[in-house]
Amino acid sequence: MKKSKHTKQDILKLLKTNKIISGEKMAQILGISRTAVWKHINDLKRKGYLIEVTPKGYTLINNVDLLNEEELADLPYKVYYYKEITSTMDIAKEIAEKGEEALIIAETQTKGKGRMGRFWYSPKGGIWMSLVIKPTFSLKEVYLLTYMASLATALAIEKIAGIKGYLKWPNDIIYKENDEEKKLAGILLEVKGEIDKINYAIIGIGINVNNEISSFVPEATSLKEIIKKELKRKDIIEELIKEFKILLEMDSVKILNLWKDKSLTLGRKVKIIHPEGEKIGFALDISDDGALILKTENEKILKIYSGDCIHLRNLTK
Ligand code: BTN
Repeated sequence: MKKSKHTKQDILKLLKTNKIISGEKMAQILGISRTAVWKHINDLKRKGYLIEVTPKGYTLINNVDLLNEEELADLPYKVYYYKEITSTMDIAKEIAEKGEEALIIAETQTKGKGRMGRFWYSPKGGIWMSLVIKPTFSLKEVYLLTYMASLATALAIEKIAGIKGYLKWPNDIIYKENDEEKKLAGILLEVKGEIDKINYAIIGIGINVNNEISSFVPEATSLKEIIKKELKRKDIIEELIKEFKILLEMDSVKILNLWKDKSLTLGRKVKIIHPEGEKIGFALDISDDGALILKTENEKILKIYSGDCIHLRNLTK
């Protein structure tokens, strides 16, 4: 006998592929009773789907931004979906320890984690997800993952929202209008491994899509704020994962070149804030091992592997 979750997915597929379809026809196609169809339709409605009943049958109103396991069933990773969670990073870690690859998504996070131990505000309407993967490359090359993830996020934003996504070192996705730069998305990477092998990597991705922006983070914006309409988060996630998979197969030089093309940091005067101190200089390039190459005011060349980066106003070299 078919598992009921699959039947629900099948009903959803029929609703998506037919403008209008009767309960009788669906029952016939799926080999279940009309009452079973009706029950599944009610379940789907409870999950937030808008389904209209007309004398000729059911119609799915397809402009709702819904995330759930059914909507994300076509992704190449097993999806764990939560309405509310502390942080997708927490569940991702448990799953990673079991040796699984998966995508963990939450509608809201109560203890969202940002870089450098910061709190990440994660209200309804955003994309808050962690991807658990077991990459085949070594710990030395792990820096590539944040470049790949930020690049894939920027590309997905461009494709689905139709606006340009810029990148700020090390891994912020930025919207730029005139001289103003605002953060749209951020990446948080956690890795477990030994020198020559990565056991797992957890890539946390937070994107401000249809959500409100906290007044405590004036330097942030959302896609809705920019394009003045709501997007389907599912479309962004699917595109992002598709791009990320393509990047996973690329060599490091190509990835870094693609990243540099979208970078707002290179060629700029920047301040790098690090627990060990601050550095000011010109961001010259990204080294082959993923560091930001900085020329300081006294002409010293430094390689910076981590820290917060602030773009300074003075643009002259
Ligand atoms: C940053 O500081 O820019 C990184 C933000 C990363 C936020 C995402 S949201 C999904 C995942 N779960 C978390 O708690 N954090 C990351």
